Amino acid sequence: MPNTILIGAQWGDEGKGKIIDVLTEESDIVVRTQGGNNAGHTVFIGKEKYVLHLVPSGILRRGKLCVIGNGVVVDPVSLMGEIEGLRQRRVKVEGNLVLSETAHLVLPYHRELDAQRELLKGKHKIGTTKRGIGPAYGDKAARTGLRIVDLINPPRFEAMLRQKIRENNEVLKAFGAKPLSFAKVHAEYRAAGDYLKAFVANTVILLHEATQRKARILFEGAQGTFLDLDHGTYPFVTSSNTTAGGACTGSGVSPNRMDRVVGVMKAYTTRVGEGPLPTESADIADMLHAMGREFGATTGRARRCGWFDAVATREAARVNGIDELAVTNIDGLDTLETIKVCVAYRDGSAQYDYVPNDIEVLSRCKPVYLEFPGWRTSTHQVRRWAQLPLKARQYLKAIAELTEARLSIASVGPDRAQTIFL
Ligand code: GDP
Ligand code: IMO
Ligand code: MG
Repeated sequence: MPNTILIGAQWGDEGKGKIIDVLTEESDIVVRTQGGNNAGHTVFIGKEKYVLHLVPSGILRRGKLCVIGNGVVVDPVSLMGEIEGLRQRRVKVEGNLVLSETAHLVLPYHRELDAQRELLKGKHKIGTTKRGIGPAYGDKAARTGLRIVDLINPPRFEAMLRQKIRENNEVLKAFGAKPLSFAKVHAEYRAAGDYLKAFVANTVILLHEATQRKARILFEGAQGTFLDLDHGTYPFVTSSNTTAGGACTGSGVSPNRMDRVVGVMKAYTTRVGEGPLPTESADIADMLHAMGREFGATTGRARRCGWFDAVATREAARVNGIDELAVTNIDGLDTLETIKVCVAYRDGSAQYDYVPNDIEVLSRCKPVYLEFPGWRTSTHQVRRWAQLPLKARQYLKAIAELTEARLSIASVGPDRAQTIFL
């Protein structure tokens, strides 16, 4: 299958980075199409841990072209730091990374506004990563954003930035926050612009030519379905389309060039930040945290944890058109006697087999569970489907059936080798 869209089927951190790394082996190009450095995609190569934020995870495999598409919001200073960090670890970036000239910039006032808006919301905060993502996409939609093409055109960038800083300093003052220094921001961003210039290209043309010569393209989704701006648990979402359609708008590759959609989901559920998580369970959170698992790759925050939510993943299968499922972190359930799976939500006398759109209703929903017997043995060493304990196979088959999609990958550890293909 040449062109694959990979998306998160839950609330982010499903293990997309690991699966991208595995699928990159049979791809030529890996493209990020939305989100920004709010993402944290972890890849282990042996004992070496890499966390990618803006650079596609494909960069860790030699000779693969990585593209940061037009739909991504780029903090140039952060991207420069990430590239330098990779270089220091001897990852080849030159010649393997291309940055869209129409990607929008994240500027310091976006980060500052993100923080100030969260403060003002108090206990109703979203729990953002404070990377300025919402305000940057806000400027894009309001048609007041700056883009990479502007960054690499020094006179234009200077004029645009001066005006934007003036305007945003007024807003920051209204919040009671410190205004920004134009000179400081300008110097920092100009340096980043000079550094990044060599990576900039018209990525729509590049990807169009790649599809014409039948290159195999992997679209690396960030965040997850229920953080999608349209289909997620609004307002507790991120500011981009994290669902499959985002891969088209965020790259300029048309829907009829896409061949399959792979949905990544954990064998349980996690969420970082605020907002409803119907299957949240202190028991499973305590167990996973005690194992040293489920701490955010970007902010280090402890992730909220819950049982597998088939109501949510079934909705994800619909919205994304998931052809194949990759289930990760199966080993996280290795010690449990009983494993619960949510098959419906109940709110008073109402029962839902889909995710209600009204956030107040969703917040009240109580899960209806099916119970499965645990396999109670370590799966870390398993490399083939038939080697998995019968109860684990039954559990995985059940969650795939409830999700209404075909299971194609099962992951029993963070390493490349800990991957089972069906
Ligand atoms: P992403 O944002 O979807 O790429 O996911 P993150 O990297 O934020 O979080 C997923 C975490 O799970 C990372 O620490 C991965 O190394 C880890 N991981 C992925 N698959 C597995 C698995 O099957 N088992 C275990 N134990 N860890 C996994
Ligand atoms: P990856 O790609 C998990 C969450 C934040 C917050 C909400 C809005 O690693 O799966 P934002 O900073 O985007 O405005 O925050 O979205 N969030 C993520 N949660 N994984 C991510 O990315 C996330 N990116 C944003 O915690 O709840
Ligand atoms: Mg992550």
